[in-house]
Amino acid sequence: MANAGEALKGLVLAGGTGSRLRPLTYTRSKQLLPVANQPILFYAIEALVAAGITDVGVVVGDTAREIEAAVGDGRALGCRITYIPQAAPLGLAHAVATAAPFLDGHPFLMYLGDNLLKGGVAHFAQRFLESDWDAGIMLTAVPHPEQFGVAVVDERTGGVVRLVEKPAIPPSNLALVGVYLFRPAIFDVVDGLSPSARGELEITDALQGLLDRGRTVHAEQVDGWWKDTGKPEDLLEANRLVLEDLEPLRAANASVDAESQVSGRVALHAGVVVRRSTLRGPVVLGPGTIVEDSFIGPFTSLGGGVRVVHTEIENSIVLAEAVLEDVPGRIDGSLLGQGTRVTRRRAAPRAITLVTGDHCLVEVL
Ligand code: DAU
Repeated sequence: MANAGEALKGLVLAGGTGSRLRPLTYTRSKQLLPVANQPILFYAIEALVAAGITDVGVVVGDTAREIEAAVGDGRALGCRITYIPQAAPLGLAHAVATAAPFLDGHPFLMYLGDNLLKGGVAHFAQRFLESDWDAGIMLTAVPHPEQFGVAVVDERTGGVVRLVEKPAIPPSNLALVGVYLFRPAIFDVVDGLSPSARGELEITDALQGLLDRGRTVHAEQVDGWWKDTGKPEDLLEANRLVLEDLEPLRAANASVDAESQVSGRVALHAGVVVRRSTLRGPVVLGPGTIVEDSFIGPFTSLGGGVRVVHTEIENSIVLAEAVLEDVPGRIDGSLLGQGTRVTRRRAAPRAITLVTGDHCLVEVL
C-alpha cells in the first residue's frame, strides 16, 4: 500500500559471469570495466544516491573481492554498502531471494550493475513511493527485443499486461531496462519460481507472476538513453554516450606543450603529459598518461598510466598501463585491456607477432 514515509533500499546486482566481454572479464568483473574512465558499477550506485537511496546492498559472485576493493564501504559514493554473496549466478530473481534478509520487508529499487541510464532513477523512485503499485519497471523501444525481457503494455490504460524473457518472437519492441522497483509482494512469487530454459530464476517471470495474481506492475518509458553493457560494442557506445557530456578538466599538474593542439571537451587528469600531439575531444586521459607525437580522436578514454607514442587512435577504450607505440594506421572502435602493448615490429622478419589471451579479437590491415 502507498506509504510515502517508507524508505527505499537499493539492490545493485554485480554477480554473474560477463562471458560476452571475454577476454576482459577473465581478469576483471564486467561491472568494473570503465566507461569514460569510471567503472560502470559506480554510475549505478551514483544513480541510487541521486534518488536519495543510501542503504545499498550489492550482490556479488566470484569477483566479490575485486568489487569490494573498488567500492569499499560506499562512503566515498555517499551511501552505506552491504555486500550480499550469491553462491552462483542462478538468475536475477535468485539474487533477489538471496538479498531477502538485507531487504527486510522494505520496498526496494533493483539496478543491474552493468546498465547505464542517462536520466537516472530519482523521478521513477519518487512516483513509486507515492503509488500503491506492487512493482515498477522501465521500458524502452529497441531494434532487437529478442535479446531482452519484453513487455506488452495496454495502450488504453498504460498498464503492463504480459512479460516474457528473451522471446524468440517478441510480442512488442519494448525492452525491460535493468531498473526495477518492488514492494515485498515480490517474495510471494520469487519463492515459487522454476528455472527458465536458460536455467535461471528470471525476474521477468516473477513480474509475470505478480500480474497473474492480479497485482499491479506499472511501466514507465525511459527518459534519455539507456545502455546494457553486455557486449564490447555496447561498452564503446556507452563510452560515446557518457563522453558526450564530459566535463572539461585540466589538472593543475597536467602539461600540454606549445606544439600540441587541443580542441573540444577534453579531461586531463593529474600528471598527464601531452607533447607534439593533437587531442580532439571528447577525450579523457587518466592520471599519469603520456601522449607523444600522436592523435587522440573523439570518444576515446585512456586509463591511467597509458603511453601513446607515434600512434593515432579514436573511438576506443584503453585500460590502465597500456602502451601503444608506432602503430601504423589508425586504431578505431577498440577495447584494449590493462597493460596491453601494441607496437610496430622493427627487426626482420617482417611479420605480425601476437600474444593474445583466449577469446581476443585482432583485425589486421
Ligand atoms: O539489461 C536489461 C536486461 O537484463 C533485461 O531486459 C532482462 O529482462 C534481464 O533478464 C537482464 O538480462 P541479461 O541477460 O542482460 O542479464 P545478465 O545475466 O547480464 O545480468 C544482469 C546483471 O545482474 C549483471 O550485472 C550480472 C548480475 N547478475 C546476473 C545473474 C544472472 C547477478 O548479480 N546474479 C545473477 O544470478
